[in-house]
Amino acid sequence: MPQPARAVSFVLLVFLVTGVTPINGGSEPVPEPCPSGCSCAGYLADCSGLKHGRIAERLPARITRLDLSHNKLRTFPEALLASLPQLSEIKLSNNEFESIPDLGPNAGNLSSLILANNRISRISAEQLSSLVALETLDLSNNNIMEVRAGAFPPLPLKNLLMNNNRISTLEHGCFSNLSSSLLVLKLNKNRLSSIPPKIFPLPHLQHLELSRNRVRRIEGLTFQGLHGLRSLKIQRNGVTRLMDGAFWGLNNMEVLQLEYNNLTEVSKGWLYGLLTLQQLHLSHNTISRIKPDAWEFCQKLAELDLSWNQLSRLEESSFVGLGVLEQLHIGNNRISFIADGAFRGLPNLQALDLKYNEISWTIEDMNGPFSALDNLRKLFLQGNRIRSVTRKSFTGLDLLEQLDLSNNAIMSVQANAFSQMKKLSELYV
Ligand SMILES: *[C@@H]1O[C@H](CO)[C@@H](O)[C@H](O)[C@H]1NC(C)=O
Ligand SMILES: *[C@@H]1O[C@H](CO)[C@@H](O)[C@H](O)[C@H]1NC(C)=O
Ligand SMILES: *[C@@H]1O[C@H](CO)[C@@H](O)[C@H](O)[C@H]1NC(C)=O
Repeated sequence: MPQPARAVSFVLLVFLVTGVTPINGGSEPVPEPCPSGCSCAGYLADCSGLKHGRIAERLPARITRLDLSHNKLRTFPEALLASLPQLSEIKLSNNEFESIPDLGPNAGNLSSLILANNRISRISAEQLSSLVALETLDLSNNNIMEVRAGAFPPLPLKNLLMNNNRISTLEHGCFSNLSSSLLVLKLNKNRLSSIPPKIFPLPHLQHLELSRNRVRRIEGLTFQGLHGLRSLKIQRNGVTRLMDGAFWGLNNMEVLQLEYNNLTEVSKGWLYGLLTLQQLHLSHNTISRIKPDAWEFCQKLAELDLSWNQLSRLEESSFVGLGVLEQLHIGNNRISFIADGAFRGLPNLQALDLKYNEISWTIEDMNGPFSALDNLRKLFLQGNRIRSVTRKSFTGLDLLEQLDLSNNAIMSVQANAFSQMKKLSELYV
């Protein structure tokens, strides 16, 4: 029986020996020195914020990641790249580049190019075309004003970040050379006032961000071509209208974030086709109406955030169809009316947030307003106008663990009002 044990320790020893050698500089016996001003750790050379502003001409050949940020660079020290055959990531953020620098003929192994915080005003296909292995390009915080057709040559780009530029125009076809690879596209904080229809023919894209632009209206079929998209952010745009079918074609969407816009209603027209949606974030809009059948297409929704809106009534139809919803946030609205059965379609709800509304009579006069919520664990009712709690108020909430009734005007609590909640561990009055 001792043999297998010895075999294992032998394998472990081999692993340790071979695992250690590359850290000592591959096949070379002595690691090449790190030039002064830079610090080298393993495969990373940090030559950021050089005091005297002079970039070394040579770096150890083992380096795969190079940080040249904060150096006031305007041109790229091309010779440096020639000494780094294995370079895969280069960080050139916080310099003074006015265009995408020419990285020379040795840039073919580069997979990540970070050019954030420069003064780049144009995406030039000529410089990009030699980066045949590029997967991540960060052009955030520059002065780019438009993305023209032809800006991107065919590249295996997966992540394209262009936050905080001045982009107001996306020319038709501008992303089409990236269609077989792009996974993440960020265009937050730009000046887009509309999203041209079918501008994103990107079937593999998983995450698209368009927050802090100036899009007021989203037309039907705008996102057609994004079958693989899983999350979409369009916060803080001042969106007032979502036309019917605005999100049609997003067959794999899981998270839709539309906070801080000016939406006034939820309707099945704009939710059309969102069959796989799991989270919908609509807080900080001006929604006053949830149309009947609104949720017809969203049967997989697990989290719905409608807080900070202008809802005043929860109707019997308000949440019909949300059979797997687990979290419902409707705090900070103006809700004073809750119809009998408003929560009947929510058998899986675990957390209900109704804080800071105008609920007063409901709980006192209704026959168990929450009685259909068999699985509710958390109920937030603070900041309302509840004056008394009766035995019927919380019937059906046998699994409740947390109940917040603080900041109300409660003057009476009927005996046994909480007695059926055997699991209640936190009660705030
Ligand atoms: C890419 O790296 C390999 C080894 O890792 C090297 O042989 C090759 O010359 C490099 N190609 C370029 C274009 O630098
Ligand atoms: C795609 O790349 C090719 C080669 O660089 C270029 O000529 C063409 O204009 C690009 N197409 C678009 C739509 O960007
Ligand atoms: C959106 O709502 C905000 C605050 O409610 C308001 O100040 C702004 O004028 C509205 N914008 C549009 C485009 O309606």
